[in-house]
Amino acid sequence: MNQIIKLTLVLACMISLFSCSSSKTSSKGIIEDNIEFACQQIGLEIDMMNAKGEILNPRTINKDGSTRYNTPELWTSGFFPGSLWYLYKLTGDKKWKVEAEKITETLDTVQYLTWHHDVGFMVYCSYGNGYKLTNNPAYKKVIIQAAKSLSTRFRPNIGAIQSWNVQRGWQAKRGWQCPVIIDNMMNLELLFEASKLSGDKSFRDIAIKHAETTLENHFRPDNSCYHVIDYDTITGQVRNKVTAQGYSDESAWSRGQGWAMYGYTLCYRETKDIKFLKKAEAIAEYLFNHPRMPKDLVPYWDFDCPKIPNTPRDASAAAVIASALYEMSTFCPQKSETYKTLADKIMNSLASEAYRAKLGENNNFLLKHSVGSIPHNSEIDVPLNYADYYFLEALVRKRDLER
Ligand code: GLY
Repeated sequence: MNQIIKLTLVLACMISLFSCSSSKTSSKGIIEDNIEFACQQIGLEIDMMNAKGEILNPRTINKDGSTRYNTPELWTSGFFPGSLWYLYKLTGDKKWKVEAEKITETLDTVQYLTWHHDVGFMVYCSYGNGYKLTNNPAYKKVIIQAAKSLSTRFRPNIGAIQSWNVQRGWQAKRGWQCPVIIDNMMNLELLFEASKLSGDKSFRDIAIKHAETTLENHFRPDNSCYHVIDYDTITGQVRNKVTAQGYSDESAWSRGQGWAMYGYTLCYRETKDIKFLKKAEAIAEYLFNHPRMPKDLVPYWDFDCPKIPNTPRDASAAAVIASALYEMSTFCPQKSETYKTLADKIMNSLASEAYRAKLGENNNFLLKHSVGSIPHNSEIDVPLNYADYYFLEALVRKRDLER
């Protein structure tokens, strides 16, 4: 009898060891497979630059098939260096640090940029990630100076940071006074970081006030959000609730919902104020109960586009949402499993042939099928460097969670 019990126990142990190791292998599989792919694919881009002797900063593919590169003042200039920092973090290989430093440092002048709000994206993704990995004191100075520049756009009577200037370009045609876009939630990370690095509490105060004003004015009762809120510069009151990149003023532009969910998650991380986490969770409820959320969880570019399903998906929105969900899973013990499972499902989709490029194709970008702005007829169903950046960030977060 004893022998039978022993045998049964040994067999049970073997079965459980086997199933444990096979589930670990499959999850390790997707992480390692994508790290390897990203190193090879981005490596091709770096090899090409080094062969040319140029430092370039890819953003997307032009209509003629050529690569469109960033100049430093574009909102997308921080993402490619940010991706290189993530490769350094994921592999520990110094080669990526060298390349990341080269491209990061081409953005030196961005710290003084005051004519749009995206300095948060630009400096936090590049210098911010670089500082976390190297403690380079020069990077710390850039982060603090960039926070000062971004703070010049804070309008105290409105309680928000102005996103765009309205004197020229397409914005001038919209009749806005002080447009604040939901994307701006992402710039707050730079402000929180700069407060910690400098001890200057004003950056953090601005970030919190901006998040609170946005909470009050940007959301609809169903927890979807508007893209643009235009404020009166004198009274501070809301003038209009509209869109720039969505299908219509009342529609739910997918990447905007992603920015909102990610933005409130980071606000909770930095403040531990529960109202911010509740908003992030409410946005997740909205997204994942939406009847037009596709089965693979890669949204169409706008949830309310009447052409669904005959309209492009936006892989960049999916990558932002996946990255946010991984972080949310660490804050919500009751929903931790749910959020992680959803994020994993998105990552499986993005890493599949449907969205991930083949090695050496897609002008060396990682993901296909993102949308810049359909109303501007710009960057439609193309790779975008921010889709790649948030995909890699999500991979980092997934790996950290599973370790
Ligand atoms: N921040 C601009 C965009 O999401 O397209």
